[in-house]
Amino acid sequence: MINVSNFQIAIDGPSGAGKSTVAKIVANQLNFIYVDTGAMYRSAALYGMRRGIDLTNEALVEAFIKNVDVILKNVGGGQIVLLNGEDITNKIRTQEVSGATSVISKVNCVRQKMTALQRQYADNYNVVMEGRDIGSVVLPNAQVKIYLDASASARAERRFRELIGRGFEADFQKIKSEVEQRDIADMNREISPLRRPDGKTYIADYIDSSDMTAQEAAFAILNIVNKKLGV
Ligand code: DC
Repeated sequence: MINVSNFQIAIDGPSGAGKSTVAKIVANQLNFIYVDTGAMYRSAALYGMRRGIDLTNEALVEAFIKNVDVILKNVGGGQIVLLNGEDITNKIRTQEVSGATSVISKVNCVRQKMTALQRQYADNYNVVMEGRDIGSVVLPNAQVKIYLDASASARAERRFRELIGRGFEADFQKIKSEVEQRDIADMNREISPLRRPDGKTYIADYIDSSDMTAQEAAFAILNIVNKKLGV
C-alpha cells in the first residue's frame, strides 16, 4: 500500500486487451478504487433498452439521461454496478447490451455526464480508471497513463477460449472480425475516440499484452507506478 492522495492511473486500450482484469489487480495491490467506465456506458444503454428507446436518437437520449444514476461500488476485490439502486452487474454483460452501448457511447450528452461522474471518483479517491478516453480526455493530468494493447488475434483467441471454456460454441474467424470491427468503431467515432499514444498530444506508456498474462501486465504497470513515486 502506498501513502498518496488523488493519485490517478488511467488505463486505455481496445476491447479485449485485458484492461479490466489488469486494472483490478493493480487497484487491489495498491488499495485504490477501481473504476470501470465501460460499465457506466453499459448502464445508460440498459436503461434506454428497457424502455425501448431508439438510442440513435440524440434528443430521446438527452431526455432520459438525467434519470440515469450509476454508482460503482468496490466490494471484496470486485465491483458491483448499481443503476438507480438496482444491482445490474451481470445484466450489462450481454451481447445485446454491448451492441446498444457502442451506440449510446457516441452521444455527446452521455459522454459529458459520464465524464463528470468519472472525474468525481478521481476527485475523491486514488483511482485505477479504465476505458477508451481516460488518459486523453477524462483525466488528462493522470500521474500514470497506460495504453494496454494486444493484437486482434490474441484478443480474439482470449474471447474464443473464454466462450469454449463456458461451454458455448465459437467461431474464431467470426470473433476476430468482430474484434476488428469494434476497433474501427471505437477509433473512428467523432467524440472521444480511442487513440493510440502519439508521443505529443497524448503521451502514455504502451504495453502490448499479446504474450503476457494479466499478472505480468499488472506487474509492468506497478513497476511504472513505483518509478513515478520513486519507490
Ligand atoms: O470496456 P467495455 O467493453 O465495457 O465498453 C463498453 C462500450 O463502451 C464500448 O463500446 C466502448 C464504450 N466506452 C467508451 O466509449 N468510453 C469509455 N471510457 C469506456 C467504454
